[in-house]
Amino acid sequence: MVKPLVVITGKSGQLGWELQQLVKEYSGHFNFLFTAREELDLGNPSSIPQFFEKIKPAYFINCAAYTAVDKAETEKESAYAINAEAVGVIARCCADANAVLVQVSTDYVFNGNEPSPRKPTDAADPVNYYGYTKWMGEKLALENNPQTLVIRTSWVYSEHGHNFVKTMLRLMREREEIKVVNDQVGSPTYAASLAEAILTVLMAFENGNRQYGVFHFSNAGVISWYDFALAIRDMAQLSCCVLPQPSSAYPTPAKRPFYSVMDTTAMQEIFSVKPVAWQTALQECINKIKAAD
Ligand SMILES: NC(=O)c1ccc[n+]([C@@H]2O[C@H](COP(=O)([O-])OP(=O)(O)OC[C@H]3O[C@@H](n4cnc5c(N)ncnc54)[C@H](OP(=O)(O)O)[C@@H]3O)[C@@H](O)[C@H]2O)c1
Repeated sequence: MVKPLVVITGKSGQLGWELQQLVKEYSGHFNFLFTAREELDLGNPSSIPQFFEKIKPAYFINCAAYTAVDKAETEKESAYAINAEAVGVIARCCADANAVLVQVSTDYVFNGNEPSPRKPTDAADPVNYYGYTKWMGEKLALENNPQTLVIRTSWVYSEHGHNFVKTMLRLMREREEIKVVNDQVGSPTYAASLAEAILTVLMAFENGNRQYGVFHFSNAGVISWYDFALAIRDMAQLSCCVLPQPSSAYPTPAKRPFYSVMDTTAMQEIFSVKPVAWQTALQECINKIKAAD
């Protein structure tokens, strides 16, 4: 029997890389094709249908995105093309190919003003342009392909790529003291945990549990960036002094939501995905970073 083809974009990004580490375990069920910008450029949405002329996926996991949150405030055209327009075209091509689209999105679609975990059905209200483009991408994906799952996630890190954990480890080795904001709280997500969750969803689909719409996934637990930095320091056994700072001390071009926690109940109940605690996931990532040093 021919195995269903899973196309995964953004192979050089954090999530795309973690998916590549995992797919061996799923090779009995699926064939996988990973793409980089060279094979499929989301910055050029009109070129996307050509890709689908040759490739007929059963599942399309879009991990590619314009993720430079501050730069998006000025590079609006590029951010919109990649995060919204291209997603709309991908969704239409997936609909024509009868393919399921998994569109990865973000907690930044919410304004973060209410201190309670956001549900997938809660109204979006992004506070920065990146969040707006991702929200538009969600809408176009859902409108253009009824077989779409939007999976929103938050505070993503990995041993691969650029992220808060790796920046903290570098700064804590270089400096005696660093300052980290303590008035933004959220749920960190190890990209490996998210990759596993996505492949669990695909297996559920193969087993007939086909449910579409918007879902939330992060590791379990709620902390501030300051608490996260302290945990990184302690788990990596470093001795840098970490001082709490208000966000107002670090003005950035893009505003950030203050409370960025998402309710993952639907993902757990529908797809039996159990998010591990952020501490467990962080320790695993730090162990891998240390082993590679
Ligand atoms: N990072 C976070 O904290 C975070 C939080 C919430 C949600 N998310 C979402 O999670 C998903 C995965 O994020 P990530 O952290 O893995 O992102 P990432 O590490 O920044 O990777 C982004 C990927 O997108 C690719 N890409 C960018 N522009 C492209 C284009 N024009 N055509 C094709 N590919 C392009 C990049 O390729 P190049 O290497 O060639 O640039 C890279 O492989 C994204 O949808 C993101 O919005 C991320």
